[in-house]
Amino acid sequence: MRSIAVYSLKGGVGKTTIAVNLAWAAAAQARRRTLVWDLDGQAASTFLLGAERSGPDEAQAVFARDVAPSKLIQPTGTDRLSILPADASLRTLDRFFFGLGKKKRLEKLLERLGKDYERVILDCPPGLAETSEQVLRAADLIIVPVIPSRSQNGRWTKSSTISIGTASAKARSSPSTTWLTGAARCISRPWRKIPNGR
Ligand SMILES: Nc1ncnc2c1ncn2[C@@H]1O[C@H](COP(=O)(O)OP(=O)(O)OP(=O)(O)O)[C@@H](O)[C@H]1O
Ligand SMILES: [Mg+2]
Repeated sequence: MRSIAVYSLKGGVGKTTIAVNLAWAAAAQARRRTLVWDLDGQAASTFLLGAERSGPDEAQAVFARDVAPSKLIQPTGTDRLSILPADASLRTLDRFFFGLGKKKRLEKLLERLGKDYERVILDCPPGLAETSEQVLRAADLIIVPVIPSRSQNGRWTKSSTISIGTASAKARSSPSTTWLTGAARCISRPWRKIPNGR
């Protein structure tokens, strides 16, 4: 299994759009058993993939190990594509992780999902707090959408709208924004960076 996080400190930059499209491509085109894990309490990818929101506290209960992920996972209208839906309980996920004090909870849960899925795409909430740290530790690949911006001379910067962190987050004991920025590489075929990927 390979896990791919679509993450940015910023909101509204296209994370959910990329996560859902990437997941569809993995399931429909690369024919991989794929799961979208919606980590954002706004539940946008849950909505886009036509899933029901889970119950009032169930999405966060997965992290407390009170509810098994398999109990919440729903199929979508696309073959091989499933979703682990979000709900409003995820609004306090940062606080939960802070209190939990276990930095690898998401990583361990992802490992267990590996027996059922070949790709897990994490649709992350914006921000840089405990949830982000869990994601940066756990994911094999991190995609950071970047909005093109004008430089001081008024020209568009040459950067692509998508940057890919090519280093394994798992290899990092202390993820940071510095690493995220430094590891960003503009590449056009992210699947090539993943062993066994297409
Ligand atoms: N490539 C694109 N070109 C134009 N508009 C886009 C593109 N990608 C996404 N959008 C639009 O930008 C808006 C924000 O997209 P999206 O919800 O995917 O961002 P997000 O980073 O997940 O936001 P949030 O931080 O709130 O979760 C949406 O209206 C979406 O339709
Ligand atoms: Mg989103």
